[in-house]
Amino acid sequence: MDSPRLHERPTAFDRMLTPVHRWIWRDTDRRVQKLLRFSETETDGGRDILRAAEVTSDPLLRRLYLEHAIDEFRHGVLFRHRAAELLKVSASRSSQGFHGDWLAPGGHGLDDLQVDGESDRNMLAFLHLSEKAAASRFTVYRDVMQHDPPTRAVFEEILHDETFHMNYTLMQLARVEPKRHRRHLWRARLSRLWKAYLRLATGLAGILGSMLLTIQYFALLPPFAWLAKRAAHQERSGWTMVSPGHSDSLDRQY
Ligand SMILES: [Fe+2]
Ligand SMILES: [Fe+2]
Repeated sequence: MDSPRLHERPTAFDRMLTPVHRWIWRDTDRRVQKLLRFSETETDGGRDILRAAEVTSDPLLRRLYLEHAIDEFRHGVLFRHRAAELLKVSASRSSQGFHGDWLAPGGHGLDDLQVDGESDRNMLAFLHLSEKAAASRFTVYRDVMQHDPPTRAVFEEILHDETFHMNYTLMQLARVEPKRHRRHLWRARLSRLWKAYLRLATGLAGILGSMLLTIQYFALLPPFAWLAKRAAHQERSGWTMVSPGHSDSLDRQY
């Protein structure tokens, strides 16, 4: 079994993207927008986990899910409060621009969670991987936040909870599915991988679409504009006489 760890290290992929994360988080406006989005993700995740507490028939899981949901709601509040503090000192409140959401997503990916109809084992496998991803990313976000100690402290505090969530979900998965918990983890991993691919593809498609439209604008539009101008020059200005044969019927438009 995957042994529970007290602390999660960032994955190689998250570590590799550290310079990108540093760049994304350096800008105050971008930081505000990202913290607000993280707040929404955490609160939505908390709501889903609350629903999981309602539908599970396992009393221990119900109690753990309730505590987990309360943690996620608290994370949402922490992120929102920090975003509000930053907004007070931020001159501009523009939400435009590149936020790199597909490169630096909210921690969990809990937005992919479908609670109703999920078995406890699938739920735990999904939650474990989501919390593990959150712990990995929040470790990197905390490390690149040296220039902003209060935001760094928020990540530090939340990271502590995410590590607990990561560990308890794995232990509970091993309890409810002692023999096949590995298989469930792999299935959940493949599902996450597919969703990550779709997210990445959507982000890339957005960038490629913008590039293609820009190229089309500058490459295709000028010839058409030139042809339209030339045609306009060839038109006679003012009223034009219509030959008598074309205007003797009032029953049709032309
Ligand atoms: Fe969280
Ligand atoms: Fe969590």
